[in-house]
Amino acid sequence: MTAIEGQVVAITGASSGIGEATARLLAERGAAVVLGARRTERLDHLARDIRDRGGRAIACATDVTRRGDLERLVGQAVAEFGRLDVLVGNAGIARIGPVSDLDVDGWDAMIDVNLRGVLYGIAAALPVFRQQGHGHLVTTVSTSGLKIVPTQAVYAATKNAVRTLLEGLRQESTDGVLRTTAISPGFVRTELTGSIDDAQVREEVRRNMDGFGIEPEAVARVVAFAIEQPRDVEIGEVTIRPTVQG
Ligand SMILES: NC(=O)c1ccc[n+]([C@@H]2O[C@H](COP(=O)([O-])OP(=O)(O)OC[C@H]3O[C@@H](n4cnc5c(N)ncnc54)[C@H](OP(=O)(O)O)[C@@H]3O)[C@@H](O)[C@H]2O)c1
Repeated sequence: MTAIEGQVVAITGASSGIGEATARLLAERGAAVVLGARRTERLDHLARDIRDRGGRAIACATDVTRRGDLERLVGQAVAEFGRLDVLVGNAGIARIGPVSDLDVDGWDAMIDVNLRGVLYGIAAALPVFRQQGHGHLVTTVSTSGLKIVPTQAVYAATKNAVRTLLEGLRQESTDGVLRTTAISPGFVRTELTGSIDDAQVREEVRRNMDGFGIEPEAVARVVAFAIEQPRDVEIGEVTIRPTVQG
């Protein structure tokens, strides 16, 4: 028995990259996973694959920009598995580019997914956590918010908003019910470049990801580390990046 065995974990952005790797690792270690994202064929395939390997998984179509979808995701976890121990708020997009390009639609989209999506998850999960007497919020932020670089200003701003949000929530929640964890990955080899419109920026990020990005499983192991701790131990912030990343 590991401390992960038997936990019920809902994951947003579970259809690829870090979310998918996290779902696979936690399910392998005995968690029941509730998979949220928009690409439902991917989620259905992943859920089936986990179940075929003896794990427990269900898929739940989720667009994190819709508050009701997060309520349904949390509701499905409770209906199917009896409770929700952990919400991994991982869904994210990176419509990066110079601020001077004034890609206002891209800014809105990043705020809606990266920030509002996490807030909606918190709104859906907190009442359940309070009622149960325990719960854990894990979010995927970014080293973009730690080392600010050109083209990533707005993306980094959304990630740092989440970092700030979790710290505030942590300070309001010292009664032992809630744990919060913010994980900041550097370059990870995923499909995240798919959300970059600017071809030149996309190429550059892709080159870095393919050149020295770490595998999403490395971040999944950090999620597992955070949630397997005893309930009186909170892993607040973790930075994980390729050893060669500047
Ligand atoms: N890769 C990196 O180098 C890196 C570094 C630091 C932080 N991160 C963060 O890590 C997280 C995961 O990204 P990734 O690298 O694994 O990229 P990815 O493979 O592109 O995964 C992103 C996930 O977010 C989901 N998503 C996007 N918009 C959504 C929406 N409106 N509603 C629900 N789900 C949505 C996608 O699913 P659907 O399209 O199916 O909805 C997908 O499952 C993101 O928050 C990202 O900002 C990544």
